[in-house]
Amino acid sequence: MGVYRLTQLQANGKIRIQINEQLAKIWGDVTVAVHGERFDLRDCEGFACQEGGNVLGALHYRLSGDECEVLSLYALREHGSVGQALMRRVVREASKRGATRLVLVTTNDNVRAIRFYQQFGMELEAIDRYAVQRARELKPSIPTTGCDGIPILHELRFGMKL
Ligand SMILES: CC(C)(COP(=O)(O)OP(=O)(O)OC[C@H]1O[C@@H](n2cnc3c(N)ncnc32)[C@H](O)[C@@H]1OP(=O)(O)O)[C@@H](O)C(=O)NCCC(=O)NCCS
Repeated sequence: MGVYRLTQLQANGKIRIQINEQLAKIWGDVTVAVHGERFDLRDCEGFACQEGGNVLGALHYRLSGDECEVLSLYALREHGSVGQALMRRVVREASKRGATRLVLVTTNDNVRAIRFYQQFGMELEAIDRYAVQRARELKPSIPTTGCDGIPILHELRFGMKL
């Protein structure tokens, strides 16, 4: 594991533009559709994880009432604690700004993320069956099959107290 620098994304900053390009490559899009809403990550607050001049991953989030919701998280170098570093950074930011809960949505196929969030201390709070079918009305590009060939169908909501 290297020494990571966690930086806040600036509007139209060089790093943000690089992250938008990485997202477009990974997910084919820079928007997310969750719980019946669509978010454009280009307008969302976030953090980049950098090592030297390289961006190794990023996280986007939004603050709403007393909750902080993680809208996206990816690590280009997996197994290297990039994900944990980004999650720890958003926890610190959310607490500083008065949030009392961290929440996020992932999908039923994403077994690595389901494992990762629970190891991080989050708990499964709700399952919205077939929510992804509805999300496709907002974002038709959501693939039908996800990790390990598993059909992407349901939204899983995770949460933790800050
Ligand atoms: C999910 C994701 C962000 C995790 O990021 P990561 O940088 O690989 O994860 P980290 O290295 O920080 O943490 C995971 C590792 O720490 C270990 N770990 C974390 N907390 C631990 C704990 N409390 N005890 C023991 N091990 C722990 C895990 O076992 C895991 O080990 P492994 O990589 O050898 O399997 C990454 O896999 C990813 O980008 N996935 C694709 C995009 C995605 O699905 N994003 C989520 C959308 S909701």
